Amino acid sequence: MLLLLSSIILPLLLLVTVSKNRKPYCNGLSLPPAPWPRLPLVGNLFCRPPTIASLDEVLRRLHAAHGPVVSLWAGRKPAIFIACHDIAHRALVHMGATFAHRPTSWHSGVNSHGVNSATYGSRWGLLRRNLSSHLAAEHVIAGAFRSSAGSLVKSLESAAAAAAGEADGGGAVVAPSETLRHAVFGFFAALCFGEGVGEDTLGRLRGLHVEIISLIVELDAFHLMPVLLQVVCYFPRWRKLLSAQRRHHDLVTAIISARRRRREEGVGSDAADPRCYVDTLLGLGLGEDEMVSLCWEYMNAAVKTTTTALEWIMARLVLHQDIQQKLRNDIAGSDHMTCGERRRRRRPFVEAVVLEALRLHPPAHYLLAHTTDKDVTLDKYVIPKGSIVNFGVATIGRYATLWTDPDAFRPERFMEGGEGCGVHSIAAASGGPEMMKMIPFGAGRRACPGAAVATTVLQSFVEDLVRRFEWIPVASGVDMTEKPGIVTEMRMPLYTRVVVRQN
Ligand code: HEM
Repeated sequence: MLLLLSSIILPLLLLVTVSKNRKPYCNGLSLPPAPWPRLPLVGNLFCRPPTIASLDEVLRRLHAAHGPVVSLWAGRKPAIFIACHDIAHRALVHMGATFAHRPTSWHSGVNSHGVNSATYGSRWGLLRRNLSSHLAAEHVIAGAFRSSAGSLVKSLESAAAAAAGEADGGGAVVAPSETLRHAVFGFFAALCFGEGVGEDTLGRLRGLHVEIISLIVELDAFHLMPVLLQVVCYFPRWRKLLSAQRRHHDLVTAIISARRRRREEGVGSDAADPRCYVDTLLGLGLGEDEMVSLCWEYMNAAVKTTTTALEWIMARLVLHQDIQQKLRNDIAGSDHMTCGERRRRRRPFVEAVVLEALRLHPPAHYLLAHTTDKDVTLDKYVIPKGSIVNFGVATIGRYATLWTDPDAFRPERFMEGGEGCGVHSIAAASGGPEMMKMIPFGAGRRACPGAAVATTVLQSFVEDLVRRFEWIPVASGVDMTEKPGIVTEMRMPLYTRVVVRQN
């Protein structure tokens, strides 16, 4: 029986798929090139472990062989990958409405009611506007930042004091990642749930985020797992995932209920206790599951990306002592300025440092999966309705023809007169393709609504960390190897010597 299957049926299936693959799809246009062979149900990811590292490798080879638009097959749908800023601009900006859709999933668990998973339409618009206007409230952001930055500096000072003596040549050797993560989590938790949540509850919430993320199959987050493989991969972890999601649901519901009671009892005036994200959700009259899902999305989308970006930036500053010193001088030079003077200044150096780090080390190497609501022609290919469409963020940011010496860390390129001078972390809707020489937050209608807050907060944390400490490499240097994932972290956490500066 097995022999019959392998000798007759499999080659037959292969032949059918191959001939289907080679035929023009419509109007003489074909689908973007894909690897061979492709099997029914599983597509062409069947012989690789379902990890992002294997996806990176397959895509690198495909792009090298066929150019910037290629496809992979995950089951019955093509997943099209675009690694060119010009074509990405055409798709995400010119044809923005067509590419603003997200593929659906048969199981989205905690994500099911988020902005990201919402169908492109009125519910998505309402939730996105609500999130964006909450994130635009400068006094809310500034209040939460002050207390998080204060406790970050204190924790690092204590870590440095505890480790003092271990270092030769002054200062103390520390691994600051955990402290940075704690501060970023605390900052976004204050924005999401308000200031009143206890450390113990936040600790449990953080633990649950780590647990749930560790149980998610990464490729599935990009909609690249054929249903058959999803069942195989999820089956052994399903019960654990459901249990963690249930505990998360109970904890977040309790936090939301406490917040609702505070509001009903009129505790906290607006000035003393500004409106957090949960307050805005309570005002929308949403159901419990929807609110829990939106809080999960908020914390999940904000924390790991921002922490990872902060770690890469600090690693770069440890590695490039000259840039660290230049940044310190720049910060000292603007300390005496008034707010107005600071705002009028063209791009301070700290902004350039953050942009350059986001270009070279975007936390997300791909966007979230997009899809289209109709067949469209892009470049010389057809993108069939319902395909998965994604964009190579890291590849675009490091593209050799777009950037001089693209692998070098050179923040000056973003300063006045530099090649990246007009480039921002999010492309302006009115700009041309040159605005999309880097897309760490995406572009167009589905671009990250947290981009402005994330960059502001990164700049502010970096300023405080450089003003308060000197960051010096240890003898083994800094390991800049990447650990591919939904978010691409540093393979080895940063290990550095810090010296507390006397201001
Ligand atoms: C350095 C930090 C961050 C990075 C690198 C980042 C990156 C991204 C990327 C690449 C996307 C996908 C865009 C697309 O598919 O076209 C995205 C979407 C999203 N991000 Fe962020 N993000 C960051 C911080 C935040 C923050 C602080 C929040 C909110 C508090 C946030 C909330 C979201 C949401 C809700 C979406 C989905 C938008 C939609 O589908 O309409 N992100 N982000």
